Amino acid sequence: MRTLTKDTPNKIGEQVTLMGWVNVRRDHGKLIFIDLRDRWGIIQVVFNPKNKELLALADKLRPEWVVRIEGIVKERPSGMQNSELPTGNIEIEAAKLEILAEAKTPPFDIASDGHEIGEDNRLKYRYLDLRRPRLLKNLSARDKIISFMRDYLHKKDFIEIETPILTKSTPEGARDYVVPSRLHAGSFYALPQSPQQYKQLLMVAGVERYFQIARCFRDEDTRGDRQPEFTQLDLEMSFAEEEEILGLTEELYIGIVETLYPDKKISQKPFPRISYKDAMEKYGTDKPDLRKNKDDKNELAFAFIVDFPMFEWKKTDPSTSSGQGKGRWDAVHHPFTKIKNSREEISEKNAEKLSALQYDFVLNGYEIGGGSIREHDPEILEKVFEIMGNKKEDIRRQFGHLLEAFKYGVPPHGGIAPGIDRLVMILEGEPNIREVIAFPKTGDGRDLMMNSPSELLAGQLKELHIKIEKQKEK
Ligand code: AMO
Repeated sequence: MRTLTKDTPNKIGEQVTLMGWVNVRRDHGKLIFIDLRDRWGIIQVVFNPKNKELLALADKLRPEWVVRIEGIVKERPSGMQNSELPTGNIEIEAAKLEILAEAKTPPFDIASDGHEIGEDNRLKYRYLDLRRPRLLKNLSARDKIISFMRDYLHKKDFIEIETPILTKSTPEGARDYVVPSRLHAGSFYALPQSPQQYKQLLMVAGVERYFQIARCFRDEDTRGDRQPEFTQLDLEMSFAEEEEILGLTEELYIGIVETLYPDKKISQKPFPRISYKDAMEKYGTDKPDLRKNKDDKNELAFAFIVDFPMFEWKKTDPSTSSGQGKGRWDAVHHPFTKIKNSREEISEKNAEKLSALQYDFVLNGYEIGGGSIREHDPEILEKVFEIMGNKKEDIRRQFGHLLEAFKYGVPPHGGIAPGIDRLVMILEGEPNIREVIAFPKTGDGRDLMMNSPSELLAGQLKELHIKIEKQKEK
């Protein structure tokens, strides 16, 4: 049976079998030492010159070779201990060595924190990059945070439900990624920008409390805190008002910090609720950094920004088909948000004055979540789409399913969707979200390891009814 490096200190005097990678090899005169690495850490292995065959085999070892080693766990001779390693007082005296896989010399150092290495190279060889302890720690931290979220919400009687990835576009502000349909020539699915409409339909279905660790896709320019695909903790509740959703989110996030990051300090509890107007007037932004001391890496300043305007004037791109005219009213959050004003006040001429039951969740100057109470009256919802410049027949075509569903007894509902990548980035003190995503895309949306996006075979294109228009040479 295999022993993990972390369990070796409890096995002094015992025979063990270890498996892992050669981290480094050191020759000391006649002795050969290797540091053997597995996911849990590093342990020193010593090859004694008395066993000539074994020593000759150990002499071949190079960094990153994968090995199986049998030996005895021994205390290190005095003066040879390394107090910086959990296994620093012991070593393995090897009796048997098996080489399970050889390795080419890695294209970069994987023992360092990696910040000094060009990112293209790191992403091309991501499977090597992920071997560095910093990145393994990030993946593990992400897993612990997600697992805390799941446990917390399950205890509150939420049901985790998966919603489709092949879906229809939702108007959430970004461009959709589209997937051509083989069976329906000329028709396309869209990948979800978020599960927004599905989670609302689940409220119509009587689920009452839904959540999902949801992958979202948005074809927008990538930045340090933005990836084309990212993950949200998406949740929705029926019969809940704004303060109930904010209170639940607050309790969950305090729980995450106090349980998983006890060294970190939350600046203010309960989290301040600041109106959009006050935030803009006082800080000039709707995602203020409220830390008292911005040099303190352990300070976490959470806040909720509330009372957003419903609409903002958006200039349209005159080069697009929908770009006639100067612009149009767009929803600040999304059209499904409930307007606070009375039904009579909801009209295009009042658009600027209408205020929404929308909230953003911010942390240390980042927007880490957004949500709203939803408009569940289909007539008002239709009105909102009209104010946004949609024609009646377009509204029916795009949102008919939701408007129809809302005619069958829809409970009042609302929700929130905190971004998981940004949270892990901040808690782990990383400079961007690529460091906390196993296989992120580059700034221009490429996966350098898989080499995607990539061209399709002619047969695949034909099956999908797609002809590629080659760009003319300039
Ligand atoms: P929204 O569009 O505000 O709301 O997104 C919610 C949160 O998701 C994160 N986020 C991102 N993270 C990384 N890369 C991106 N490209 C990216 N885009 C967004 C942010 C953001 O606050 N359906 C609504 C939620 C709701 O109303 O319940 C929605 O998606 O942290």
